[in-house]
Amino acid sequence: MPKAEPQDEIDLFIEGLPKVELHLHIEGSLEPELMFELAQRNKLEIPFKSVEEVRAAYDFSNLQDFLDIYYQGMNVLQKEQDFYDLTYAYLSQVSKQNVMHTEIFFDPQGHTERGVPFETVLNGITRALEDGRTKLYVTSSLIMCFLRHLSEEDAMKTLEQALPYKDKILGVGLDSSEMGHPPSKFARVFEKAREEGFRIMAHAGEEGPPEYVWEALDQLQVDRIDHGNRSLEDEKLVARLVKDGTPLTVCPLSNLKLCVVKDLHDHPLKKMLDLGLKATINSDDPAYFGGYMNENYKAVAHALNLDKDALLTLARNGIEAGFLDPVGKEALLGQLDGYAKAA
Ligand code: ADE
Ligand code: ZN
Repeated sequence: MPKAEPQDEIDLFIEGLPKVELHLHIEGSLEPELMFELAQRNKLEIPFKSVEEVRAAYDFSNLQDFLDIYYQGMNVLQKEQDFYDLTYAYLSQVSKQNVMHTEIFFDPQGHTERGVPFETVLNGITRALEDGRTKLYVTSSLIMCFLRHLSEEDAMKTLEQALPYKDKILGVGLDSSEMGHPPSKFARVFEKAREEGFRIMAHAGEEGPPEYVWEALDQLQVDRIDHGNRSLEDEKLVARLVKDGTPLTVCPLSNLKLCVVKDLHDHPLKKMLDLGLKATINSDDPAYFGGYMNENYKAVAHALNLDKDALLTLARNGIEAGFLDPVGKEALLGQLDGYAKAA
């Protein structure tokens, strides 16, 4: 047998690597095939004739371009079973990629705004997460995001809707259109969320300036920063993130598709690791950006020439940054160490 090329060897190494995903919008895992199936099931018209036409429309110049199509796509999600099917399809996909644990975002306001009850969304997703645990052996938790283009009052109402379900929702986050909607707009909502015991995170520094990352740290008191790319523009901010060990949930293919970077060769991931930042790899909205976890790991590993040690660091960061219980965390770290030794 010919010896594997180094590229193939890295790909095989990534495929076998036990991984944790920490930045995944479940609505962003809606594949065009399921979009058509749900449109038909719910007797809805969608403005596309074929799966190919949908994929061709996924050509974005920035975050807002994507969000316009993302909110339109989620209109097909109407019934509890639709949310179940969406979530179970994602879990099935990542279970084949050696993703052992995943922390899933959902956007309740994207559904309640359209008249779909909060409980319909929550019940569909949580039933699939439970089946994912027992049938696919993927553990998970759920994080509710506030849409930052909507008002603080709307976010507060959404937080109140979630209070009876603290056993099902582990944390709260902040997503949608970043520019013009700084974290400080939601300081009171996040203060209440902290008092109620939720874990805290926010998208910051994806398109927005380093000041938004500072606000997420100081005003929202986040446990993790989602994206955080633009933190590198501010040395003091980098020093703070390194000192506190604040994880960054980085999403390489998302950054490419949304033109946060021009080319993956320019991606800051390696620089983040070199600076001592706790960077992790994630897929964000895999149905829209061309790949799940393995595709993200492979694309950035090849573009930046990452070796096995760097990939192990990224996977270890993902486990350490996860909101797993200590026993689950130790077990996954042990599994990763075993994999590293055998490699
Ligand atoms: N919602 C879904 N994906 C997002 C992203 N990458 N940034 C902000 N909001 C989002
Ligand atoms: Zn995101």
